[in-house]
Amino acid sequence: MKNNLEEIESQLNLLPPALGLKLISELFPGKVTFSSSLGQEDQVITQLIAFQNLKIQIFSLDTGRLFPETLELLARTEAKFKTKIRVYYPETAAVENLVDANGINGFYDSVDNRKSCCFVRKVEPLRRALAGNEIWVTGLRAEQSANRSEMKRIEWDEGNQILKYNPLLDWSFDEMVAYIETNKIPYNSLHDKGFVSIGCAPCTRAILPEEDARAGRWWWEDSKKECGLHAK
Ligand code: ADX
Ligand code: SF4
Repeated sequence: MKNNLEEIESQLNLLPPALGLKLISELFPGKVTFSSSLGQEDQVITQLIAFQNLKIQIFSLDTGRLFPETLELLARTEAKFKTKIRVYYPETAAVENLVDANGINGFYDSVDNRKSCCFVRKVEPLRRALAGNEIWVTGLRAEQSANRSEMKRIEWDEGNQILKYNPLLDWSFDEMVAYIETNKIPYNSLHDKGFVSIGCAPCTRAILPEEDARAGRWWWEDSKKECGLHAK
């Protein structure tokens, strides 16, 4: 499948996200999985999958440090769309060893500690969630960061050895919010309190209107602000 990537890409470039997702689910039956962080982008994609009844599995990575509002949204989303979101958890022993070595909030102490935490709580569970699939659907948008602006609609993810499809890549923030409002899609109540990009509770804060969308993630770091799920 890696070989006919260009052909699939040219087809996807002509299709809106709803039809792109449909095409992908037909080309790779039973081998498409979608990672949802319950963010606004992901809620749009969940709705596109649900209303078309597409055979795409939806999963979420519960790091153990998410906001209660995010987990409440997960339950609300399953109920609203009558769908199931498979939840993956970090390995118990790995979390215990991490906390033993670095402390319960050790991620504030260094970028290395923070990356170790993201690895144990997100990257390793992601690998298990992707295993056996051929396409990984994400809610990445080019506008979100400089790193993401270089991404393609569909690309080969070398680290995870899987094709990655980003259906909302060229959607603007306003376009996404309008779609959510028009279609009455459930969203995280934290968005109404100034939170934009939402990850783990201790590593996410609300932002001011003039701040960059990802300024509230790992705000104490002067890093690329990526957790390793989408690292290049
Ligand atoms: S992150 O790398 O900074 O955490 P971000 O929150 O912007 O990522 O989300 C980008 C995409 O990564 C989401 O649309 C989703 O596909 C995936 N993702 C991020 N966090 C999770 C999570 N906890 N569970 C499942 N997917 C996630
Ligand atoms: Fe750990 Fe923070 Fe990364 Fe969540 S975002 S996995 S709490 S370092």
